[in-house]
Amino acid sequence: MAMQTSTPVTLDRAWISELKRREAARLDERTRGSGRLFERARRSLAAGVASAYQARDPWPIYLDRGAGARVWDVDDNEYLDFHNGFGSMVQGHAHPAIMRAVERRLRLGTHFAAPTEDAVWVAEELSRRWGLPQWRFTNSGTEATMDAIRIARGLTGRDTILKIFGSYHGHHDYVMVSIGVEYASIGDRDDLASLPYGAGIPDVVARMTVPVPFNDADALERRIKRLAGEDRLPACLIMEAALMNLGVVLPRPGYLERVREITRRYGIAWIIDEVKTGLTIAAGGATEHYGLEPDLVCLAKSLGGGLPTGAIGGTDEAMAVVRDGRVYQVGTFNGNPLGMAAARASLSEVLTGEAYGHLHRLNERILAGCRAVLERSGLPGYAVGIGSKGVVTFSPVEIVDYETFKRHQDKELAELGWLYNMNRGIFMTPGREEEWTLSVAHSEADVDRYIAVFEEMASDLVRGAG
Ligand SMILES: Cc1ncc(COP(=O)(O)O)c(C=O)c1O
Repeated sequence: MAMQTSTPVTLDRAWISELKRREAARLDERTRGSGRLFERARRSLAAGVASAYQARDPWPIYLDRGAGARVWDVDDNEYLDFHNGFGSMVQGHAHPAIMRAVERRLRLGTHFAAPTEDAVWVAEELSRRWGLPQWRFTNSGTEATMDAIRIARGLTGRDTILKIFGSYHGHHDYVMVSIGVEYASIGDRDDLASLPYGAGIPDVVARMTVPVPFNDADALERRIKRLAGEDRLPACLIMEAALMNLGVVLPRPGYLERVREITRRYGIAWIIDEVKTGLTIAAGGATEHYGLEPDLVCLAKSLGGGLPTGAIGGTDEAMAVVRDGRVYQVGTFNGNPLGMAAARASLSEVLTGEAYGHLHRLNERILAGCRAVLERSGLPGYAVGIGSKGVVTFSPVEIVDYETFKRHQDKELAELGWLYNMNRGIFMTPGREEEWTLSVAHSEADVDRYIAVFEEMASDLVRGAG
């Protein structure tokens, strides 16, 4: 899928800096209201935001409202939303079916900490879509991956866990390890280091999480053998089937099948983190798309149709430790009636077979459009996507793991792309690693707008190229 561009251009770095300066000044000018709100917000909200991922220099863009494929900021700038709440709003904003279900539930009481029929219905539907018989609910992706890891530990009686180097699985200590590492510190792929991501994570906890490179089943097996030799056989391997936090990185043919075979052979629970892929790339997520047989899966983001809801699905065997009470999988708001009502409406009325047909057709169109721009302009990059998600990765070679991402991704072009989008009515996640997520509310005209903005940036870049 990596497309070599026909006639690569030589980029002029000074010109890229100039374009970035120009676009940043224009964005500041357009978002003065956000600037004022930031001045107020920072006095009581740390760094002016509710989550560090929302922060941005010189100020975050504060949103006011959304409808369908569109959002408006506090300056009343209108955008087509390709960020979609970090890929949570594949249903689009304020979808009538979800609004109806939530409004109905509001009047019937919003929280009991007792199960409701909607939770049973959602578990049945997820069982059908994922082919996994047993489910539990959480309030976020972080809770889902945290509990799935505890289940795997309870099941196997082992402590060590494996994760993919550079991969994000939420903000609990077990998985805030070996993320965002500088290229020079990555080290030997057979001996990747367990590095805490930020302060406050005990070293002793980080060292229980062992990272391995993506797309390299041999390295995985070598690391497992070494751990076995140290009497540290892992409880689980937690991973995404396609990486969604380094742009989009697809698995090489045969890789996932080998991972399944190896983990099975060593009695290691295979946890597929579908917080981003679930319900956005197919009705049954990456599990359906790639025909996988995980022991456990984690869902969140798009499951709740805009409400904070997560889920863990598992085989009968894996979930036995939850059923019989050996592992406590608990939470006051688990299966919250509002979230369950939204999830049910979303699964039954919005994310239907027809919706996935629409998303896939639109994604093909936006990918093809971006590829054509790359071809014409000679910019070093390729367009890659799956389901409702995709990205233009500015790299002369295909990114296959964290090391190639850090080495080859052109950070400046990714940043410039964000500024171009924001100044031309395309709302995107700040950050060089982010992919777009389309929603059922997007139209062909909407994705064509995205392509047109990319075309404008490409021609401006080429104009100043050497
Ligand atoms: C793959 C993956 N897993 C887990 C999480 C954590 O989800 P949450 O932010 O809902 O805790 C994220 C969030 O971005 C994610 O991308």
